[in-house]
Amino acid sequence: MSSDSWEEAKELVKARADIVDIIREHVDLKRSGFRYLGLCPFHHEKTPSFTVHPDQQFYHCFGCKASGDVFSFMMEFHHLDFPESLKVLAQRYQVELPEKSRSPRQREQDERRKQMYALNDKAADLYHCYLLEDRGAEAARRYLQRRNIPESVQQRYRLGYAPAVQRGGWNFLSAQLSEAERQLAVELGLQVVREKSSGYDRFRDRIMCPIYDSRGRVCGFGGRILGDGEPKYLNSPESPIYSKSRLLFGLYQQREAIRKQRRAVLVEGNFDLLALVARGFELGVAPLGTALTREQLRLLKPLADEIVLLFDGDQAGLKAAERSVPLFLAEQLSGLVALLPPPHDPDTFVTQFGIEPLAELIERAGPLPEFALAQLVDRYGETLDGKFKIIEELRSLVAAAPSPVQRDAMAKHFGDRLNFDPERLLAEVIPADSRSSAEARAGRSNVPLRKADLTGALKFIITFMVRHPRYFSRLLEHRVDDVLAGTVGETICIQLKALHEQGRDSIEPEELFSELPRGEERALVASLLTEASDSSPMLRDDPVQQLEDILNWLDRERMKKRSEILMRGIKAAEMSGDFAKLNELMQEKMEVDKDLKQVGIGGLRL
Ligand code: UTP
Ligand code: MN
Repeated sequence: MSSDSWEEAKELVKARADIVDIIREHVDLKRSGFRYLGLCPFHHEKTPSFTVHPDQQFYHCFGCKASGDVFSFMMEFHHLDFPESLKVLAQRYQVELPEKSRSPRQREQDERRKQMYALNDKAADLYHCYLLEDRGAEAARRYLQRRNIPESVQQRYRLGYAPAVQRGGWNFLSAQLSEAERQLAVELGLQVVREKSSGYDRFRDRIMCPIYDSRGRVCGFGGRILGDGEPKYLNSPESPIYSKSRLLFGLYQQREAIRKQRRAVLVEGNFDLLALVARGFELGVAPLGTALTREQLRLLKPLADEIVLLFDGDQAGLKAAERSVPLFLAEQLSGLVALLPPPHDPDTFVTQFGIEPLAELIERAGPLPEFALAQLVDRYGETLDGKFKIIEELRSLVAAAPSPVQRDAMAKHFGDRLNFDPERLLAEVIPADSRSSAEARAGRSNVPLRKADLTGALKFIITFMVRHPRYFSRLLEHRVDDVLAGTVGETICIQLKALHEQGRDSIEPEELFSELPRGEERALVASLLTEASDSSPMLRDDPVQQLEDILNWLDRERMKKRSEILMRGIKAAEMSGDFAKLNELMQEKMEVDKDLKQVGIGGLRL
C-alpha cells in the first residue's frame, strides 16, 4: 500500500488521540488555565515546567525544551522509533494500519535479522538449560555459587554455560543447529570457520551472559571464563544485531526499577551487576567493556534523570569518570560519581561489607562536573601555572555543553570556584572547528593577553582586524563590535571605528598601532603584528577568503543569538498566554533556525 495511507493513518491517530490522556498516564498533570502543568518526565526538576496544551495537542518543557506531539512523546518517553509509536497508538485508538511497504531487499534483511534474533534466543536457551541441568555443568554451577549468584538471578538473566569438549569436538552448539542456522551462527560469531574446517563453537567452557536490547531480544553474548585465565571475557563480535556501544548489560532486566526511581547506577563489569542484583539492588546496568558512550546514555535517558557512576577508586576509574563528563553535558543528563575505596569493585565491596554501605555510598555520590574539577585541581595544583592548565582543560568541558545557558552556568561555577573571570572559559565556544588548544598555545605570543585569554575565533578575528584594517567596514556591517564587546578586542574596535568615521577607509596597521592608548591593547596589537609567519597561517592565506570566513562566522553567531532571544520571547509569551505572539515568535525562530542550518557549521580555519 502507498505511503499516502500511512499519512492517513497518522492523521487519523492524531485526530483521535488525546495528548492529555496519554501523558497523564505517566505524568501527574494539573490544569492551569488553558493548559496542563506537571513535572517534566524528560529531566529532573522540583517545580513543574512541563506544559501540555490540549487545544494545540502539543507539550513543551521550559526547563529542558523538550516539545512535540503525541508521536514524539511516545518516541521519547517509551524510547520507540516513529513506526513503533504509530503502531502502539493506532492499536489503542483502533486505527487500522496499511500493510507496510518494503522493498524486497529490505524485506529480506528484516527476515534475516529476525532469524538472527531467533538463533541467539535458541543458543541462549541451550546454554541456559545446560547450566541448570546438565552434569557437565557441575563446575560452572559451583563457580556461580562461589560468586554468590543464586539460581533466581541465573534464571532472570538466563545465564548459561557453554561446555568445553562435546563428543570429542567443539560442537555443542553447532551439533544442534540446522545448516541454515549454522551459516547465521557464523555471522553472529557463535561459530568460527577456518579454511578447510567445517566450523566449531566460538564459546567453550564459559559462563554465558546473554545481552538483551531494551525490547528483550538477545543481541549477543558475553562469555566469562570459569576462574582465572585469558581472555577473561569473550564477547560476540559486532554483527547486524549486536553493537556493543549501543547496548547495556542488564538494561532490559532492570529498566522498570530504574524507571520507577528515575535513577540508574552504572557499574563496570557484568559480574558487578549480577552481584548487585543478587543482593536485591535493582538500579544497576553495565556497559559492555567499552568506555561509556552517548548512545548508552541515550538508552537510559527516557528512564532516569540521574546516572550514578559507581567506579573503582583507582586511576582508571577516575579517568573513566572524567572522560564521561562531556557526554553527560551533551545529553543534558545529571551525572554523579561514587568511588569505591581501592582495591574494591562493587562485587568485592558488597561481598565484604554488604549492600547497605554500598547504598549509602551511592546516596552520597557527588556531581560529576564538580568531581572532574576536583580531579584537575589535584592533578595540576592551584598555582598560577596550574590554573592555566586547568582552564585549558575546562574550556573543552564548557564547550561540550549544548546550550548557552548551561555554558554560562558552568563557566560561572568553575570561575567562582577557581577565582577567575568566567569569560575566559567562554571566549572559545566554537568547539568543532577551532584548532586544538595545544596549537593555540603555540601560536600565542609572549605578551600576556590579560583581559581575555584569547584563543580560537576571537583571536582569529582580532588578528585579522589588526593586520587588515582596510576591511574593517565590512566587519562592522556584520556587527563585529557586538561579538568583541567585553573582550580585549573592544578597544581596538573602538579605535578602528574612530578612524573609519574620520573617513579613512584605507587604514594601515601601523596607523592603528600608533592611535591606540598605551596598555594591554597596544601590546596585543604589537604581538599580533610581529607574530612569526610560520606560527600563523594568517600571513600565508588569502585575506579575502579569510574575510569571507569571518563574515560567515559572524552571521552565524548573530543568528544563534537571535534564536536564543526568540526562545526567551516564546517563553514570556507562553507565560502570559499570548498565543498570537507565541505563534509569531515560533515562526520566526523556525526561520532563523532554518537559515542557521543553511549557513552550515563550517568554521574558521585557524
Ligand atoms: P571486569 O573485569 O570488571 O568484569 O571487566 P567483571 O564482570 O566484574 O569480572 P569479574 O568476574 O568480577 O572478575 C569489566 C567488563 O569489561 C569487559 C566485560 O564486559 C566485563 O564485564 N571485559 C573484561 C571484556 O570484554 N573482556 C575482558 O577480557 C575483560
Ligand atoms: Mn568484578
